[in-house]
Amino acid sequence: MSTIVAPSLLAADFLHLGRDIDMLNRSEADWIHLDIMDGVFVPNISFGFPVINLLKKVTHKPLDAHLMIVQPEKFIDDIAATGATLMNVHYEACTHLHRIVNEIRKKGMKPAVTLNPHTPVSLLEDILPDLDMVLLMSVNPGFGGQQFIAHTVRKVAQLKEMILKQQASALIEVDGGVNLETGRMLVDAGADVLVAGSFIFSAEDPGEMIRLLRAL
Ligand code: DX5
Ligand code: ZN
Repeated sequence: MSTIVAPSLLAADFLHLGRDIDMLNRSEADWIHLDIMDGVFVPNISFGFPVINLLKKVTHKPLDAHLMIVQPEKFIDDIAATGATLMNVHYEACTHLHRIVNEIRKKGMKPAVTLNPHTPVSLLEDILPDLDMVLLMSVNPGFGGQQFIAHTVRKVAQLKEMILKQQASALIEVDGGVNLETGRMLVDAGADVLVAGSFIFSAEDPGEMIRLLRAL
């Protein structure tokens, strides 16, 4: 089975967004990863609903929404209305994570929980059976083009072990500094989904990079 690849739109050329989405539509990309930031949970602001709401009209690829915001529960209905398939909320941003995860599922989306680089995977032990995916950050969230934090490979292996032990079905997604070299290590450790922004969009042939990541 090939690795699931979710190009991050954050690295696209926003002046030519239609062109870049066309490229993704024609590519083998499995999903499109959307980085939504609020300038509070992370020190940056990206794009919001005026952009996201247009995407479903121009792509049939599943949308993987990564909310880097405080109180993500306020936006479950709005994210569901965009047609997103997956909604990722940060563990660090949710006091009542179990309630939020269930609410996301009730609204017809697949719930996923994201961990910052400093958050141990062991904290997911009690919520794991309720999740469709865990997203491990391999950079501190907020910006594209940062250096991969190598420790993430060990976290992927730990999480994989926990999933197998619990006979859970959550996918493991990794986001930040992913390229062919780091992607290889992550897939070997048990990652199912790779998010990549700058590696794909700065390449001369982005479609080829997507193909190579899927083949890892
Ligand atoms: C970082 C975002 C990532 C980012 C990845 O906050 O969550 O999705 O776009 O970018 P690269 O692949 O360039 O590290
Ligand atoms: Zn992301």
